[in-house]
Amino acid sequence: MNTASPYLLEGHKITKRFGGLTAVHQVDLAIRPGEIVGLIGPNGSGKTTLFNCLSRLLPIDEGKVIFKGKDITRRKPFQVARMGMSRTFQVIRVYRKMTVLENMLISRQWRGEGLLQMLRPSHPDTERRAHELLDFLMLGHLKHELAGRLSGGQRRLLEIGMALMPDPDLLLLDEATSGVNPTLIETIKDRIRALNREQGKAFLLVEHNIEFIADMCERVYVLNFGELLAEGDPQSIMNNEAVIEAYFGA
Ligand SMILES: Nc1ncnc2c1ncn2[C@@H]1O[C@H](COP(=O)(O)OP(=O)(O)O)[C@@H](O)[C@H]1O
Ligand SMILES: [Mg+2]
Repeated sequence: MNTASPYLLEGHKITKRFGGLTAVHQVDLAIRPGEIVGLIGPNGSGKTTLFNCLSRLLPIDEGKVIFKGKDITRRKPFQVARMGMSRTFQVIRVYRKMTVLENMLISRQWRGEGLLQMLRPSHPDTERRAHELLDFLMLGHLKHELAGRLSGGQRRLLEIGMALMPDPDLLLLDEATSGVNPTLIETIKDRIRALNREQGKAFLLVEHNIEFIADMCERVYVLNFGELLAEGDPQSIMNNEAVIEAYFGA
């Protein structure tokens, strides 16, 4: 890692436009190693877009993304996954007609791009890791079940498992609690905390669930109309007038 920077991930003045719409405008954001950071904002405020810019799913119009001191602005998602950054999606992406274990083994973030990569037989170490992670995520008893038969929460856990396959230092989770029942939300929280405390993994959590953010995060960024509205600890964010106005104002 670049010793000049204390940050694991840095977004500098990120701007993303879709035609005439500026979805993200000049946003600065940084995450330290081992930190749990939240990203909140009203619907359509640009959370997923910023997330896609950081994880390199979308090309950005202005600004740059630095990971572990390296400029990754032009790298592909599977390349940054290999460097230690993984992500999940707001709309769950698992292969419903494959088993839970098979989903873990073909995780594209792990394998790179293309069908050949996906079909390449997996190494025994990879299989062992998949089994261990499924047990850790309380999905061990469902290994041979079709992913399509899992509940919403179990699919979220499976997606987290797939993102964990390359053993990332940073995980970006987009609405990990959406469509998840309260019991499994507690499981997800508990597993995130364990990964953070025991393995030092950092998290960027994009959420609409404010309670989840308040419980989990050391620091929170708030987006509104694509711009950074506030940044701080959860307590100060929840009491911030501009944030309250953005959420509940006219
Ligand atoms: N692929 C796209 N093409 C055009 N507009 C988009 C696209 N993705 C998002 N947007 C627009 O960008 C804005 C931010 O969307 P998004 O990042 O999904 O917000 P959030 O995740 O905070 O709900 C919205 O106005 C949305 O309609
Ligand atoms: Mg979103």
